[in-house]
Amino acid sequence: MEKVQKSLVLIKPDAVERKLVGKIISMYEEHGLNIAAMKLVKLDKTFAEIHYKEHKGKSFFNDLIKTITRSEIVAIVLQGENAIEKIRRINGNTNPEKAEEGTIRKMYALNNTENSVHASDCEESAEREIKLWFPELVAKEEWFSARNM
Ligand code: TYD
Ligand code: MG
Repeated sequence: MEKVQKSLVLIKPDAVERKLVGKIISMYEEHGLNIAAMKLVKLDKTFAEIHYKEHKGKSFFNDLIKTITRSEIVAIVLQGENAIEKIRRINGNTNPEKAEEGTIRKMYALNNTENSVHASDCEESAEREIKLWFPELVAKEEWFSARNM
């Protein structure tokens, strides 16, 4: 049996602006993933820089922060078997030109930066990102216990 995991997914401004939220959430649900938490938020620069801190100093960092803060995003915790890898596969390659047919980014991403979705890339980042985005839930200690992951 595969491991049940939680992952943080963001539906980015480019996708919310084009009213793709329902279509994107449906793709995750059709793959058996469950919504464990969800909210609509507009990020400020400081929060966006903390979320993307691993990319600080890279050539695309300023564009990335500008793009992710320009309008509302939908933040979701998805849960399911092998969720972290499964969601990365559903999302597709960072660059829509390299993304496989049928992936969210192949279908909807506009370019390398406006690429419609974010998802945690490993268990360690999932835990860091979920604690950052949903501190009120993670304060309940059992959220990260083996029984609930
Ligand atoms: P990264 O973590 O490499 O990709 P992913 O979102 O697939 O985990 O990069 C984070 C975000 O930074 C990416 O979704 C969009 C932006 N980005 C660019 O704008 N240009 C780039 O060349 C790269 C690699 C990323
Ligand atoms: Mg990443």
